[in-house]
Amino acid sequence: MTSALFTKIETKQATIGILGLGHTGLFLANEFRQVGFPLIGYDIDAARIEKLKRKENYLPFFDPQSLFNSIDTQQFIPTHDPSVLSRADILIISVPTPLNKQRMPDLTILEGAAAIVVSVVRNGQLIVMQSTSYPGTSEEIFIKAIEKKGMKVGYDFFFAHVPEREDAGNPQVVLSKVPRIAGGMTPECLNLAKRLYEEITIRVVPCSSIRIAEATKVFENSFRLINIAFVDELKVVFDRMNLDIWEIIEAASTKPFGFTPFYPGPGIGGECIPVDPIYLSWKAKEFQANTLLIDLAIDVNTKAYKYVIQKVFLSLNERLKCLKGSKIIVLGVAFKKNVTDTRESPALKIIPILKEVGATVIYHDALVPEIPFLQLKSTDLSETLLKEVDCVLIITDHDYYNWEWICENSQLIIDTRNATRSLKQYQHKIIR
Ligand SMILES: NC(=O)c1ccc[n+]([C@@H]2O[C@H](COP(=O)([O-])OP(=O)(O)OC[C@H]3O[C@@H](n4cnc5c(N)ncnc54)[C@H](O)[C@@H]3O)[C@@H](O)[C@H]2O)c1
Repeated sequence: MTSALFTKIETKQATIGILGLGHTGLFLANEFRQVGFPLIGYDIDAARIEKLKRKENYLPFFDPQSLFNSIDTQQFIPTHDPSVLSRADILIISVPTPLNKQRMPDLTILEGAAAIVVSVVRNGQLIVMQSTSYPGTSEEIFIKAIEKKGMKVGYDFFFAHVPEREDAGNPQVVLSKVPRIAGGMTPECLNLAKRLYEEITIRVVPCSSIRIAEATKVFENSFRLINIAFVDELKVVFDRMNLDIWEIIEAASTKPFGFTPFYPGPGIGGECIPVDPIYLSWKAKEFQANTLLIDLAIDVNTKAYKYVIQKVFLSLNERLKCLKGSKIIVLGVAFKKNVTDTRESPALKIIPILKEVGATVIYHDALVPEIPFLQLKSTDLSETLLKEVDCVLIITDHDYYNWEWICENSQLIIDTRNATRSLKQYQHKIIR
């Protein structure tokens, strides 16, 4: 049975069904379409499907032309009807893995996706889990549910995990050049997934098991979380010593071995780094294992924004100004540069607190026109406005900003990203 699907993959005759057409799912659909695979795209969000059918893009920095060109020929079928997925030879799950209100893994979306897979799975299908989750997710949430139907993994259906390794907003990272890791439930499962992803990726790195692949992804993101927390903590330490952490990191980066640079900031955001390590630490508890470093890093990172607020307060104080009554403009509210995504963004924590203590807060972000839950809209930047505000607070250093012009016209700049590092002539009004 595997050889038939293997041949279908090699000849690009295999129809791929993708569950979840968000940042990663739609990008993946585009990649597979570009190399010639027929596609079915299913999303629970009917509005997104309607947009796709009208050939309207809903994602930034994304050129969907090859997908749109394939709609009329039925080579790309966007659908809100999950039963259409039963026509696919391969199913790829790319649904969100968020946290609940208690900041614990919210598995309901994965469970919802599993219910859909169970309803459409048929003999000979390859199912690939792409969403990031704790080691054991594929087996516990998906395979167990499918096997309850009387189908056996590795015989009746094939299951693999190939996590996404996207660096949103970073044009230097070309997806096809990033090696992908893959783990399968059986060697046949791995072979099929490996052959499939070789069509769109420079290299597929096989893992000895599906759990190793799942663990690798959460390990990568935990590694980043911990290192960012480390530099955030050292930022405070070196500030007290009146030492510039960015200069120290730059100097340390000249070491050709044993050092990887990470940079401090106002706190981490996005749906990956602040979230995925919690999936790992949550699962670790089941094995009576501690994840002290992850827990500590989460704590340090979730408090990083408080240090920014303290900086604003102290810098205004230094200029004989009170936070209450001051006018502050926040530059950049997306969680990182060059993205539109505000999920878990530190700006969304900082703005309400500054407002609560009586500051007038406005913001500018050309990529985020409004923040509905704060009832704020991005304001236009002008020389007059910059001169008028008491403080410019740089939270996200989008590439489009003209820092020299901003510094020239502002009274006080709090730069949480070291975006103004090269502007030596304005250092007297810049606080990092
Ligand atoms: N965005 C990134 O840069 C990135 C990078 C690496 C890994 N990931 C991981 O990829 C996964 C998906 O993330 P994303 O950023 O693409 O999420 P997203 O929120 O951008 O998109 C998810 C899509 O899934 C849809 N959806 C929700 N439940 C569904 C269901 N039951 N069936 C079908 N569709 C459903 C949503 O409507 C949405 O369109 C997550 O596990 C995330 O951690 C994301």
